[in-house]
Amino acid sequence: MTAALETIRARAGAEPVRLGLILGSGLGHLAGAVGGVAIPYGDLPGFPHAGVSGHNPNLVIGRLEGVRVAVFGAREHYYENGNPAAMRPALETLKALGAEGLIATNAAGSLRPDIAPGDLMLLGDHINFSGLNPLIGERTDARFVPMTEAHDPGYRAALRSAAAVEGIALPEGVYAWYSGPSFETPAEIRAIRTLGGDAVGMSTVPEVILARFLGLRVAAISTITNMAAGMSDEKISHEHTKAMAPLGAAKLERILRGFLHGLR
Ligand code: HPA
Repeated sequence: MTAALETIRARAGAEPVRLGLILGSGLGHLAGAVGGVAIPYGDLPGFPHAGVSGHNPNLVIGRLEGVRVAVFGAREHYYENGNPAAMRPALETLKALGAEGLIATNAAGSLRPDIAPGDLMLLGDHINFSGLNPLIGERTDARFVPMTEAHDPGYRAALRSAAAVEGIALPEGVYAWYSGPSFETPAEIRAIRTLGGDAVGMSTVPEVILARFLGLRVAAISTITNMAAGMSDEKISHEHTKAMAPLGAAKLERILRGFLHGLR
């Protein structure tokens, strides 16, 4: 048993967790909606901590809609320390806690005129535009992870129907992972559009790869905070991302609650 697992069980009890949730930029308040035990990442060996993005670097173990969840209040991005596998120990811990799956959330720029800031987008698939991979260096044959249905069809259908019940639009699209931390150029955005990308962001893809590697079902939702570079006159900035993300967060919470309700 890892030291992180021991600490979590000592503080939050040994009851297995059903699902993990990773909260993206500006979505941290969702952790507060979960009644449970908050454990600072700093107390969990292997979890990202120093300098990690997000204001809530806690793991919250508790219940949402009656389902036992592990909420990761922050993630480490590749651009922070150059480690695409930064979330591996945290996701291994999630798996060891008994989770069957993971829902990842993020903030992203839209490449589609019909998906506007404040809207949500469900990831139907992704493009690894960075060329990086969290499994580089993994020695076992398990590294050859099939990615054909990486974004779980059953989870996606359940998320879409939860959104429909709530009357929230949840278009599906392709998310392209850009390393960051600089934003994309307009030429890069045109290239990503040509390649089939509908949204662009600096996270999530490594976690989807790691989740599949670990045998976790996974789905991800973007909160669209801006139109991608060159697509509108609005200035793109991290401040803007953080200011806009809460617009989608309330909708996201309703969809996640409906999804969890259906899981019971
Ligand atoms: N590009 C990359 N990451 C982002 C963006 C963007 O336009 N918006 C929010 N996260």
